[in-house]
Amino acid sequence: MSLELIKQVNDRYIDALAFHRTSADAFAFLSLYGFAQIHEYQYTEEAQTQRRLKLFLTRTYNHLISDAGAQTFDLLDAKIKNKKRSELQAADFWQAAQSAFSKYRQWEAETLELYEEITQQLSSSGDVVGSDYVKNLAVSINLELQYITDLMTAYNAIDWSMEQIRAEQDALQEKYIYRVRELYKDFPEYHHFNSV
Ligand SMILES: [Fe+2]
Repeated sequence: MSLELIKQVNDRYIDALAFHRTSADAFAFLSLYGFAQIHEYQYTEEAQTQRRLKLFLTRTYNHLISDAGAQTFDLLDAKIKNKKRSELQAADFWQAAQSAFSKYRQWEAETLELYEEITQQLSSSGDVVGSDYVKNLAVSINLELQYITDLMTAYNAIDWSMEQIRAEQDALQEKYIYRVRELYKDFPEYHHFNSV
Protein backbone atom coordinates (compact mmCIF):
# COMPACT_ATOMS: atom_id res chain seq x y z
CA MET A 1 0.00 0.00 0.00
CA SER A 2 2.67 2.52 1.10
CA LEU A 3 5.05 1.39 -1.60
CA GLU A 4 2.40 1.81 -4.31
CA LEU A 5 1.59 5.31 -3.05
CA ILE A 6 5.20 6.51 -2.90
CA LYS A 7 5.88 4.90 -6.29
CA GLN A 8 3.47 7.52 -7.68
CA VAL A 9 5.74 10.22 -6.23
CA ASN A 10 8.78 8.59 -7.82
CA ASP A 11 6.98 8.42 -11.18
CA ARG A 12 6.05 12.10 -10.86
CA TYR A 13 9.74 12.92 -10.37
CA ILE A 14 10.62 11.01 -13.54
CA ASP A 15 8.06 13.17 -15.39
CA ALA A 16 9.31 16.32 -13.62
CA LEU A 17 12.82 15.73 -14.93
CA ALA A 18 11.42 15.53 -18.48
CA PHE A 19 9.40 18.69 -17.81
CA HIS A 20 12.42 20.71 -16.64
CA ARG A 21 14.66 19.35 -19.42
CA THR A 22 12.07 20.29 -22.06
CA SER A 23 11.58 23.74 -20.47
CA ALA A 24 15.33 24.41 -20.43
CA ASP A 25 15.47 23.53 -24.14
CA ALA A 26 12.47 25.77 -24.91
CA PHE A 27 13.92 28.80 -23.11
CA ALA A 28 17.33 28.28 -24.72
CA PHE A 29 15.54 28.24 -28.09
CA LEU A 30 13.95 31.58 -27.11
CA SER A 31 17.41 32.91 -26.12
CA LEU A 32 16.16 33.44 -22.56
CA TYR A 33 19.16 31.86 -20.89
CA GLY A 34 18.34 32.95 -17.35
CA PHE A 35 15.00 31.14 -17.48
CA ALA A 36 16.70 28.15 -19.13
CA GLN A 37 19.16 28.06 -16.22
CA ILE A 38 16.35 28.04 -13.65
CA HIS A 39 15.15 24.81 -15.28
CA GLU A 40 18.69 23.39 -15.47
CA TYR A 41 18.91 23.98 -11.73
CA GLN A 42 15.53 22.35 -11.04
CA TYR A 43 16.49 19.43 -13.27
CA THR A 44 19.65 18.79 -11.26
CA GLU A 45 18.04 19.39 -7.87
CA GLU A 46 15.08 17.13 -8.62
CA ALA A 47 17.35 14.42 -10.10
CA GLN A 48 19.23 14.32 -6.80
CA THR A 49 15.94 14.24 -4.88
CA GLN A 50 14.67 11.36 -7.01
CA ARG A 51 17.86 9.37 -6.39
CA ARG A 52 17.45 9.87 -2.62
CA LEU A 53 13.77 8.94 -2.82
CA LYS A 54 14.57 5.71 -4.64
CA LEU A 55 17.07 4.73 -1.94
CA PHE A 56 14.53 5.61 0.72
CA LEU A 57 12.03 3.28 -0.94
CA THR A 58 14.47 0.39 -1.14
CA ARG A 59 15.72 0.82 2.40
CA THR A 60 12.38 1.43 4.03
CA TYR A 61 10.13 -1.00 2.19
CA ASN A 62 12.77 -3.52 1.03
CA HIS A 63 11.48 -3.74 -2.53
CA LEU A 64 13.07 -2.80 -5.81
CA ILE A 65 10.59 -0.78 -7.85
CA SER A 66 10.88 0.14 -11.52
CA ASP A 67 10.75 3.71 -12.79
CA ALA A 68 7.91 4.56 -15.18
CA GLY A 69 8.77 5.96 -18.61
CA ALA A 70 8.54 9.74 -18.71
CA GLN A 71 5.77 11.55 -20.57
CA THR A 72 6.62 14.12 -23.22
CA PHE A 73 5.74 17.80 -22.91
CA ASP A 74 4.70 20.35 -25.48
CA LEU A 75 5.55 23.75 -24.08
CA LEU A 76 5.57 25.90 -27.19
CA ASP A 77 2.93 26.27 -29.91
CA ALA A 78 3.71 24.42 -33.12
CA LYS A 79 3.78 27.70 -35.05
CA ILE A 80 6.65 28.86 -32.84
CA LYS A 81 8.65 25.70 -32.26
CA ASN A 82 8.69 24.79 -35.96
CA LYS A 83 10.33 28.09 -36.91
CA LYS A 84 14.04 28.73 -37.11
CA ARG A 85 15.25 30.95 -34.28
CA SER A 86 16.12 33.68 -36.76
CA GLU A 87 12.50 33.73 -37.94
CA LEU A 88 11.00 34.36 -34.51
CA GLN A 89 9.14 37.65 -34.15
CA ALA A 90 8.81 39.84 -31.06
CA ALA A 91 5.24 38.59 -30.55
CA ASP A 92 6.47 34.97 -30.60
CA PHE A 93 8.86 35.58 -27.69
CA TRP A 94 6.20 37.46 -25.76
CA GLN A 95 3.59 34.73 -26.20
CA ALA A 96 5.97 31.76 -25.76
CA ALA A 97 7.47 33.06 -22.52
CA GLN A 98 4.02 33.49 -20.94
CA SER A 99 2.83 30.12 -22.16
CA ALA A 100 5.92 28.27 -20.86
CA PHE A 101 5.60 29.97 -17.45
CA SER A 102 1.93 29.26 -17.18
CA LYS A 103 2.55 25.56 -17.93
CA TYR A 104 5.36 25.57 -15.38
CA ARG A 105 3.09 26.96 -12.70
CA GLN A 106 0.34 24.49 -13.55
CA TRP A 107 2.80 21.59 -13.41
CA GLU A 108 4.06 22.50 -9.95
CA ALA A 109 0.55 23.22 -8.62
CA GLU A 110 -0.66 19.78 -9.75
CA THR A 111 2.46 18.15 -8.31
CA LEU A 112 1.88 19.82 -4.94
CA GLU A 113 -1.74 18.66 -4.94
CA LEU A 114 -0.67 15.08 -5.67
CA TYR A 115 1.98 15.04 -2.91
CA GLU A 116 -0.40 16.51 -0.35
CA GLU A 117 -2.98 13.88 -1.20
CA ILE A 118 -0.42 11.06 -0.91
CA THR A 119 0.89 12.48 2.39
CA GLN A 120 -2.65 12.37 3.69
CA GLN A 121 -3.26 8.79 2.52
CA LEU A 122 0.02 7.57 4.03
CA SER A 123 -0.80 9.27 7.28
CA SER A 124 -4.28 7.70 7.38
CA SER A 125 -2.79 4.27 6.80
CA GLY A 126 -0.46 4.77 9.80
CA ASP A 127 2.78 5.08 7.79
CA VAL A 128 4.32 8.02 9.67
CA VAL A 129 7.78 7.62 8.14
CA GLY A 130 6.47 7.58 4.56
CA SER A 131 4.02 10.39 5.24
CA ASP A 132 6.77 12.63 6.71
CA TYR A 133 9.05 11.91 3.78
CA VAL A 134 6.49 12.93 1.15
CA LYS A 135 5.42 15.91 3.27
CA ASN A 136 9.01 17.25 3.12
CA LEU A 137 9.04 16.86 -0.64
CA ALA A 138 5.79 18.84 -0.81
CA VAL A 139 7.45 21.66 1.18
CA SER A 140 10.14 22.10 -1.48
CA ILE A 141 7.56 21.95 -4.31
CA ASN A 142 5.58 24.63 -2.51
CA LEU A 143 8.66 26.90 -2.36
CA GLU A 144 9.24 26.38 -6.08
CA LEU A 145 5.58 27.16 -6.79
CA GLN A 146 5.71 30.34 -4.73
CA TYR A 147 8.85 31.50 -6.49
CA ILE A 148 7.37 31.10 -10.00
CA THR A 149 4.08 32.64 -8.90
CA ASP A 150 5.98 35.70 -7.61
CA LEU A 151 7.98 35.95 -10.83
CA MET A 152 4.79 35.71 -12.91
CA THR A 153 3.06 38.36 -10.79
CA ALA A 154 6.01 40.70 -11.34
CA TYR A 155 5.98 40.05 -15.10
CA ASN A 156 2.21 40.47 -15.33
CA ALA A 157 2.68 43.90 -13.74
CA ILE A 158 4.94 44.96 -16.62
CA ASP A 159 2.81 43.15 -19.23
CA TRP A 160 5.68 40.73 -19.92
CA SER A 161 7.93 43.48 -21.29
CA MET A 162 10.55 41.50 -23.20
CA GLU A 163 12.94 44.41 -22.94
CA GLN A 164 12.83 44.24 -19.14
CA ILE A 165 12.82 40.44 -19.09
CA ARG A 166 15.86 40.23 -21.39
CA ALA A 167 17.68 42.73 -19.18
CA GLU A 168 17.28 40.34 -16.22
CA GLN A 169 18.55 37.20 -17.94
CA ASP A 170 22.28 37.57 -17.23
CA ALA A 171 21.76 38.03 -13.49
CA LEU A 172 19.33 35.10 -13.33
CA GLN A 173 21.68 32.88 -15.29
CA GLU A 174 24.59 33.73 -12.99
CA LYS A 175 22.50 33.12 -9.86
CA TYR A 176 21.33 29.70 -11.02
CA ILE A 177 24.73 28.57 -12.28
CA TYR A 178 25.97 29.32 -8.77
CA ARG A 179 23.09 27.33 -7.27
CA VAL A 180 23.82 24.31 -9.52
CA ARG A 181 27.45 24.40 -8.35
CA GLU A 182 26.25 24.47 -4.75
CA LEU A 183 24.21 21.33 -5.40
CA TYR A 184 27.26 19.46 -6.61
CA LYS A 185 29.36 20.78 -3.75
CA ASP A 186 26.99 19.03 -1.35
CA PHE A 187 26.58 16.01 -3.57
CA PRO A 188 25.53 13.12 -1.32
CA GLU A 189 27.41 9.86 -1.11
CA TYR A 190 24.30 7.87 -1.93
CA HIS A 191 25.70 4.43 -1.33
CA HIS A 192 27.92 5.11 1.63
CA PHE A 193 26.95 3.09 4.67
CA ASN A 194 26.05 6.16 6.75
CA SER A 195 24.66 8.40 4.02
CA VAL A 196 21.14 9.62 3.28
FE1 LIG B 1 10.02 21.40 -10.36
